Amino acid sequence: MKAVTPRFPHLLHGGDYNPEQWLSYPDVLAKDIELMKKAHVNCVSLGIFAWSHLEPEEGVYDFSWLETIIAKLYENGIYTILATPSGARPRWMAQKYPEVLRVANNGVRNAYGDRHNHCLTSPIYRDKVKQINTRLAQHFAGNPAVILWHISNEYSGACYCPLCRKAFTQWVKQKYGTLENLNHAWWADFWSHTYTSWDQVEPPLANGDSTLHGLNLDWKRFTTDQTVDFMREEIRAVKQVNPTLPVTANLMGFFDGLDYFRFGDDLDVVSWDNYPCWHQGDNVAIAAQAAASHDLMRSIKRAPWLQMESTPSMTNWQDVSKLKRPGMHELSSLQAVAHGAQSVQYFQWRKSRGSFEKLHGAVVDHNGEGNTRVFHDVEKTGEWLQQLDAKIYPTRIQPRVALIYDWENRWAVEDAKGPRNSGLHYLETVLAHHRALWEKGIATDLIDMTKSLDRYKLVVAPMNYLYRKGYAEALRQFVENGGTLVGTYWSGIVDDTDLCCLGGMPGQGMMEVFGIWNEETDALYEGETNTLVPETGSGLPQKAYEVRELCALVHAQGAQVLAAYGSDFYQGTPALTVHPYGKGQAYYVAARTGLDFLRDFYEKLRLELALPRALQAELPAGVIATRRQGDEHDFVFLQNYGDSEQVVQLPAGMTDAVTGEPVDKVQLPAYGISVLQTAGSGLAAWEE
Ligand code: GAL
Repeated sequence: MKAVTPRFPHLLHGGDYNPEQWLSYPDVLAKDIELMKKAHVNCVSLGIFAWSHLEPEEGVYDFSWLETIIAKLYENGIYTILATPSGARPRWMAQKYPEVLRVANNGVRNAYGDRHNHCLTSPIYRDKVKQINTRLAQHFAGNPAVILWHISNEYSGACYCPLCRKAFTQWVKQKYGTLENLNHAWWADFWSHTYTSWDQVEPPLANGDSTLHGLNLDWKRFTTDQTVDFMREEIRAVKQVNPTLPVTANLMGFFDGLDYFRFGDDLDVVSWDNYPCWHQGDNVAIAAQAAASHDLMRSIKRAPWLQMESTPSMTNWQDVSKLKRPGMHELSSLQAVAHGAQSVQYFQWRKSRGSFEKLHGAVVDHNGEGNTRVFHDVEKTGEWLQQLDAKIYPTRIQPRVALIYDWENRWAVEDAKGPRNSGLHYLETVLAHHRALWEKGIATDLIDMTKSLDRYKLVVAPMNYLYRKGYAEALRQFVENGGTLVGTYWSGIVDDTDLCCLGGMPGQGMMEVFGIWNEETDALYEGETNTLVPETGSGLPQKAYEVRELCALVHAQGAQVLAAYGSDFYQGTPALTVHPYGKGQAYYVAARTGLDFLRDFYEKLRLELALPRALQAELPAGVIATRRQGDEHDFVFLQNYGDSEQVVQLPAGMTDAVTGEPVDKVQLPAYGISVLQTAGSGLAAWEE
């Protein structure tokens, strides 16, 4: 298996380190290294927001301080992930070249300030970034201490300046070729918004055209394309100097603004910044969402990934920034590893002394010593990683279940008017399906509509409102070849330019695959419910499950009805169906159900399809098992997100991964974790 950081193929432990803020405090810098060693830190990220120190004046570069620090760290066994500094630009640059600053969607250019406040199109900004990236690469890319490029920081946002508008028009022109095609794709004759020349194409400004759904969708696609293009230029600059040093960009999980699946081809390794709001309510639900985010980030390349940031303690951006309770730091850190991460890294190593993030959690607090509770938690996490490193590193996760999560679909679902403007809850629905599988220890990839489905036994496709080009055909083939598909209400409504499918829903031939016709969809008020009542012989418990928000009214056209609605004028009509198609079958869940239904439904499918589970054992509520697979050994991470102790009886043949001792039961304290070793399930050749 390919190492994510070949120069140092180990589980990484460390985080964002900002020595440029402390250059006039040499004692602090010396102490940092002493404390890093104590905390089992083997890698830090440098230079993320250091442009002002790297190029204090235009064209005047000073890398000496960075070189000294990298060398000192390396002497002490600590490797460097080196950032390109494009996430925040120096003041002098904005002063001299105002075009580098972003224009907001009201058409007004921002003043200098904040970070991530740059135009992605500006030739000047692109050139400045290229210059500094090239020089950094020339200086450091051959340095054995530097193991990975950290390209920029959390790309995000859009710019509406004249340069971006022009680029957008070009993009639109290239995509549609003729105004006739454009007017058709965006259905622009509606309200007489017909385009009669290309220079009428504008982004959806706050005080401008925001009612053409096709335009809104394309603007979001363009923003992703422009960001990826910008990132590509950054990567080209560093790879031209040393093509072998891998690159990553730190992503943000389910962040709405960018289609991260488009980033996969350009990144050697995906990394992401993980900030669950622990202890803000039900920790199991919070853990479920973190698990889904990990699975999503892993699925971009379907490969091992890095947790680039997480807080060792609290954040400073929540309404209330709570401390992590004892145990939670190790548990949440190892959760990432359980889902395929090859690192646990933090924001931030040391609390800054002033400015915006001085009160954000860090490994080292303002007291400057390694004697804090947080520091000890980090030390213990470092110990775990050291002990597991050689065993865990070569393992990976190869799910047989895919859950479709698609950014373009999300944008379209959320932009549409009706049938429930108070919320269709696409993301929450995806998360609920994921959670029901996660609770059972069924490993799941989260992929978009462009990924191949070949390797999966089960594909879960909730609320596929928009069918991207070729996707319906891929689903059809998947089922025909023997796969099991779960589709739901609010699927196959529009095509990829957001035009409604003609001839019946779900469109594009999917009525035949599901064996149903979705004639209408009823929207329910907040708090209003109907029920889904299973038929006898459906394989589901005989109870009425509550449904809410959207109820599709469907006709079975070949499908077997497994459950019917319990009330309203559509009482007795299909609420759950299954249809054999080719060698496979397609389920259709007609309404938004709760977790109770999803738990029972996926239990039925688990048994029917013999889906592998992380652990063949009954797990108490709040205890989750996750498995990493290897040739010789698999590793099962048993995680207790509940706030009381739990005991798990284990199947035969398991040992403690750290001590090597055989174990037949595990006692997990509140927020406890245990890592167990068992026989390997073998790795199929699934490299992308
Ligand atoms: C991240 C960001 C870091 C830091 C952190 C605070 O989104 O990349 O630089 O600001 O949030 O939680």
